[in-house]
Amino acid sequence: MTQSHDPQRMHAISDDTRDTVDEVLHYARRRALFENVPLDKAMSPRDLERLASGSITADGIGARRAIGLFENVLAPACISTDHPGYLSFIPSAPTKAALAFDVVVSASAIYAGSWMEGAGAVFAENEVLHWLAGEFGLPPGAGGVFVQGGTIGNLSALVAARDVARRNNKAAGVTDPQRWVIVCSAEAHSSIAAAAAVMDVDVVTAVPDAEGRLHGDAVAATLDEHGEAVFAVVATGGTTNFGIVDDIASIAAVTRDRDVWLHIDGAYGLAAMLVDRMRPTFAGVGEADSVIVDPHKWLFAPFDACALIYRDPSVALAAHTQKAEYLDTLTESADWNPSDLAIQLTRRARGLPLWFSLATHGTEHYRAAVDNSILLAERIAGEIRVRDRLSLVRDPQLSVVVFRREGWALADYQSWSTRLLEEQRAFVVPSSHAGETVLRFAIISPLTTFDTLTGILDTLSE
Ligand SMILES: Cc1ncc(COP(=O)(O)O)c(C=O)c1O
Repeated sequence: MTQSHDPQRMHAISDDTRDTVDEVLHYARRRALFENVPLDKAMSPRDLERLASGSITADGIGARRAIGLFENVLAPACISTDHPGYLSFIPSAPTKAALAFDVVVSASAIYAGSWMEGAGAVFAENEVLHWLAGEFGLPPGAGGVFVQGGTIGNLSALVAARDVARRNNKAAGVTDPQRWVIVCSAEAHSSIAAAAAVMDVDVVTAVPDAEGRLHGDAVAATLDEHGEAVFAVVATGGTTNFGIVDDIASIAAVTRDRDVWLHIDGAYGLAAMLVDRMRPTFAGVGEADSVIVDPHKWLFAPFDACALIYRDPSVALAAHTQKAEYLDTLTESADWNPSDLAIQLTRRARGLPLWFSLATHGTEHYRAAVDNSILLAERIAGEIRVRDRLSLVRDPQLSVVVFRREGWALADYQSWSTRLLEEQRAFVVPSSHAGETVLRFAIISPLTTFDTLTGILDTLSE
């Protein structure tokens, strides 16, 4: 610090800080209300170096220049995941209410790790978690926390599961296995293997059926083989590549019988339980010990948020509460402290954008928006079935449609995908299944229409 620099300048209420806030909020307002969101695309490091370097200086470039740089160079170098033609991976489609409220969360400097500091925010987040738990058929005592994403949600749930298994062994005087084991489907998300690597445990995959669904009998056979080493079974409520839902009811029957923790990874797909006619597909979810669903996927919240819910939150507290002298005031109280339910300490109130949007619009609009994606997936699958040179790889179960362009190899798919993005029409990257390159539409945004999709299909026969 030099003496000519006023230490309060950045924090004081002044014409300068007012202008800065106005510049930023005006831009945020414009972006939030774009009629036509530009798709945009990445730039090379070299181009960005040329166009955007040099912004960090001793005396600052000023808010106007910085926001100009963001608006004109940096933002266009990021693909808009809320563009209706963004159909790769899992898109995002935050409601206007949710994304606007994210600004409020930032403006309010809330610490949402403890009840003592963030009671109001934690209360509102819990309202959402309890509503979700009810939708999933979990009992009234269920509760949890919003964490960064499905990866951390899965890891936190599995850490709690292993902690329970260890405590049970200790209480029974049983020695822990040399290697703990998680059982899941071969189609489970890569974050399960990532969690296992962090935890230094093994993953054993049980074999799903030809449609990619894992059933209880395959889980039972795997449990027979690995016995007491298994501390958790993970069922997937909507695989990422195909949107396939495991036969959770039959898996739950097995885990109940054998007293093994059942975790449901519903990061993408569990939102479909909001749609009445989809509920039978998810039978058994209510028996889980833990579940996750990502609001930043199909619950229309901005990045990043995963709702992690435990059937019995007290076991998660035992696994996750951090102990330190400076935290004693918090941990020695009976308050509901979200930090103690997952791998984290400081936390943003990342459930609040969803709370605000749900409070604003009500739950029924959410059901309609999720249903819209499922219906659109069915409709476009019908269209693919009748188009020359296209064929479905599997019938869609949720809102992911996987299909092939007959006669194409990886290089054809790649150059088509690059052209689509160059032309700023859509972002559809090739995926693969059983060694075959395929195309995949993941439909989340209610602004993605049948015409958006048929427009893309037309380019496959050009
Ligand atoms: C089924 C499933 N589980 C877990 C994840 C990981 O979630 P995140 O990217 O939020 O960490 C994903 C992401 O697509 C997913 O689809």
